[in-house]
Amino acid sequence: MGISKAISKSMKDSSWIRAMFEEGEKMKKIYGPENILDFTLGNPDVEPPEQLKEELIRLVTSDAAGMHRYMTNSGYEDVRAAIAEFHASRTGLKFTKDHIVMTVGSAGGMNVVLKSLLDPGSEVIVLSPFFVEFKFYIENHGGVMKLVETKDDFHLDIGKIEKAITRKTKAIIVNSPNNPTGAVYSEEELKELAALLNGRREKGQRIYLLSDEAYRKILYDGITLPDVFNIYEDTLTITSHSKDLALPGERIGYIAASPRITNVKPLMDAMIFSNRILGFINAPALMQRLVGKFQQNSVDIQQYQKKRDTLYSILVEAGLKVIKPMGAFYIFPKSPIPDDIAFVRELQKHKILGVPGVGFGTPGYFRLAYCIPLDVIERSRKHFLEMGLKKQ
Ligand SMILES: Cc1ncc(COP(=O)(O)O)c(C=O)c1O
Repeated sequence: MGISKAISKSMKDSSWIRAMFEEGEKMKKIYGPENILDFTLGNPDVEPPEQLKEELIRLVTSDAAGMHRYMTNSGYEDVRAAIAEFHASRTGLKFTKDHIVMTVGSAGGMNVVLKSLLDPGSEVIVLSPFFVEFKFYIENHGGVMKLVETKDDFHLDIGKIEKAITRKTKAIIVNSPNNPTGAVYSEEELKELAALLNGRREKGQRIYLLSDEAYRKILYDGITLPDVFNIYEDTLTITSHSKDLALPGERIGYIAASPRITNVKPLMDAMIFSNRILGFINAPALMQRLVGKFQQNSVDIQQYQKKRDTLYSILVEAGLKVIKPMGAFYIFPKSPIPDDIAFVRELQKHKILGVPGVGFGTPGYFRLAYCIPLDVIERSRKHFLEMGLKKQ
């Protein structure tokens, strides 16, 4: 058919999440959507904050000239300045608009960063279990993903990361709060990682820390996210408003580069250029204007915490081994049988849809996304209990 071999291959092993979602859609047609408990997709069920909708109406109906025109490829200056201010006040570092690039979601942001950094064969360390798109994003730009397992509690295994570093290592991606485990890395472990990377720096190798903070505001039990900018110099964060403001369809996010990076200007210029030539040109204009005003806001995180607590207690009651997530809206229990695909099929027989751990590089587990209505989670109790997992 003339389709690229690489794309054909990637499509084949691409996404368990999509595969399971699609199977679920078929089941919904057969049994009725209300009878299927769908935990497959990380698509928030909550609506954006009310004031945000009001502001959007105001923007859409504005008669100001040039609202919908091309702009500088990095995004509107005042929006970048507002985001820089948000970071400066959090970190005490001298962020300015020139450290920020507005992007088409964090997916767009990660592609812009990787396009700007990678040479053919450059290695990027990714920690498993991982958000599967990272592999494709790295390969989009000629890079090679080096997968490193996390520890049994899904936290950083510094020894394993050290072993994976080679002269070709250009970057390490950390994603905290994590999809799919809900782990939030502590300041101590990030400092250990920084010490390791600084060791390489002293030997003349610069390894960038790419911190995917798509879930940065979705944190539970009052914990805060460590400030990576003050922990490691060569840090870029890639942030999304898909989850904290519930705008995933609107495709808005940004890259923030640390003011501590030596000679950051050429890197910023490279990212602005990449944003342009990847075809994004700039992030959506209306959405930029909107999120610039809502840096301090988020959807009601308590709702997610309630969902986490409910699902966690159901899984424990059902006899599953599971670590309580500290953030994001995913949970990653151990499969009671070694074959996680077979177990996900078993769940399907009980009308529960999840995603096998193999889809995140970690077989033997499965993922449930709990950004769904609370009553669906509550109804799943009966289904999990009737599986009789405690006996296994
Ligand atoms: C870890 C992680 N990074 C990035 C993204 C993509 O976010 P965006 O919608 O901003 O592209 C997701 C979406 O699920 C995610 O889970």
